[in-house]
Amino acid sequence: MGFCDKSSRGRFDGVETRSEARRAEALVNLRPMGADDVRRVAAIEMVSNRSPWSESLFAGEFCLPESRRHWLVAVVVGVGDIVGFGGISIGVDEAEVLNLGVDVPWRRRGVGLQLCQALIAEAANRNLDSVLLEVRVSNQSAILLYEQLGMRSIGRRRGYYPDGEDAAVYWMPGLLDGVSSPALASTAKEARLQ
Ligand SMILES: CC(C)(COP(=O)(O)OP(=O)(O)OC[C@H]1O[C@@H](n2cnc3c(N)ncnc32)[C@H](O)[C@@H]1OP(=O)(O)O)[C@@H](O)C(=O)NCCC(=O)NCCS
Repeated sequence: MGFCDKSSRGRFDGVETRSEARRAEALVNLRPMGADDVRRVAAIEMVSNRSPWSESLFAGEFCLPESRRHWLVAVVVGVGDIVGFGGISIGVDEAEVLNLGVDVPWRRRGVGLQLCQALIAEAANRNLDSVLLEVRVSNQSAILLYEQLGMRSIGRRRGYYPDGEDAAVYWMPGLLDGVSSPALASTAKEARLQ
């Protein structure tokens, strides 16, 4: 079950330019999330989600085998502060985005895109052919991000969220067939070289 129960409230949303985003990309690295990161990740989640995951829910992810989950955090180069996170569940032939969030001052700087690209590349590395997620139909920021990645809307789950809002279901097939999305091309190439 997907858990993209989010509303975007970025202070900088829609006002920064892409060149500023590129500058931020150079300042952020991705690394696997560790159990010690859970408190900070839960704090970002609190400002990102209308019904946020609790710290213990994040901590519970570390009780699952590594073969079933993959979580990343985005950290500021040279400082180490966590400014974003994302995770997927690993199914038989499909990955599902479980959660994704970027701290408010870091939004619209390419961090969410970097996280998604890396998670999708990891799904391909694990021989999964597709990635799926649910997102609130009102969450335009996230929807535009997924569409930029080349994901497509394949349906709607009525009343999916606790407050009754519908979820849009987004899907990207063919991860193992080649790269159809320019936004994924560089990451997938790197993934294949590993
Ligand atoms: C959705 C979210 C993760 C995006 O992260 P981000 O780091 O701000 O996104 P990026 O800077 O990588 O944006 C990549 C693309 O997404 C789209 N996008 C992201 N935020 C947007 C906004 N506020 N307005 C319009 N488009 C937006 C744009 O297409 C953008 O590309 P561009 O900057 O070249 O126009 C972030 O807004 C967030 O944490 N929101 C709250 C949590 C959430 O909704 N999670 C997703 C749940 S399914």
